[in-house]
Amino acid sequence: MINYGMDGKVALVTGAGGGIGRAAALAFAHSGAAVLVCDVQDAAGEETVAQIAAQGGKAVFQHCDVSDPAQVKAMVAAAVAKFGRLDYAFNNAGINSVGANEYDDATWARSIDINLTGVMLCMREEAEVMLQSGGGAIVNTASINGLVGNGAQPAYTASKHGVVGLTRHGALRWANQGIRVNAVCPGVIDTAMTAQAAANPEIRAKIEQMTPMGRMGRPEEIAAAVLWLCSDAAGFVTGQPIAVDGGTTVY
Ligand SMILES: NC(=O)c1ccc[n+]([C@@H]2O[C@H](COP(=O)([O-])OP(=O)(O)OC[C@H]3O[C@@H](n4cnc5c(N)ncnc54)[C@H](O)[C@@H]3O)[C@@H](O)[C@H]2O)c1
Repeated sequence: MINYGMDGKVALVTGAGGGIGRAAALAFAHSGAAVLVCDVQDAAGEETVAQIAAQGGKAVFQHCDVSDPAQVKAMVAAAVAKFGRLDYAFNNAGINSVGANEYDDATWARSIDINLTGVMLCMREEAEVMLQSGGGAIVNTASINGLVGNGAQPAYTASKHGVVGLTRHGALRWANQGIRVNAVCPGVIDTAMTAQAAANPEIRAKIEQMTPMGRMGRPEEIAAAVLWLCSDAAGFVTGQPIAVDGGTTVY
């Protein structure tokens, strides 16, 4: 794992109670940043904090449902109250209602509220605080379903295309004010979100077949891209949806 020298910096990660978010929270801490670990699941978030503490890092848990404007406001305020500033934000919380009928009103609304409106609410509050301290870097989690179509999941696909659009908007809006905004677009990654599908040998074989590299990705492989995008090494990169997908969207 690369150490990007983020000592004295502060990172906020949503959906940090597991999977990609936890891997990113651990990676920020490894680089020296203090991390506000945010999730709707308290025990899972506290476990991430414990793992960061065990590797000698600094982290605090903050309960937050990203679809609730008041909770998002309180989350960003907590980063400043606890650590004094906000430099990096990874807006990663999301749900995948795979198998459900996403044309069902409630399923559609929940997907859009969490996956898309949640990212907008986070960006809005984070940018306000970052502007006060001269800038920062935001990374949003989209998906390969934010880049290409998916015939089975209208809400997930629309929400993730929306995240790519919001990312491009944010990049342009704050480009000359010191805030870079990018997105990661993971392929199929081995997390709780995909565990049930991947446990089925037939589905797993299909996943491996549709991925040119022939395997699922690891959360750490997404975290590596997030850390780079936040770091000064990506200082001239903004507005980009970066696919980390083993080649799936290359076809
Ligand atoms: N795993 C994949 O194959 C894959 C592929 C492409 C994109 N993604 C995206 O990556 C992100 C992370 O997914 P993951 O695979 O790590 O899944 P995960 O289920 O392991 O983790 C998601 C985390 O988000 C939290 N969360 C859910 N709803 C929330 C809410 N309203 N507010 C705050 N936290 C909430 C959950 O409690 C959980 O800890 C999601 O946005 C997902 O859509 C995942």
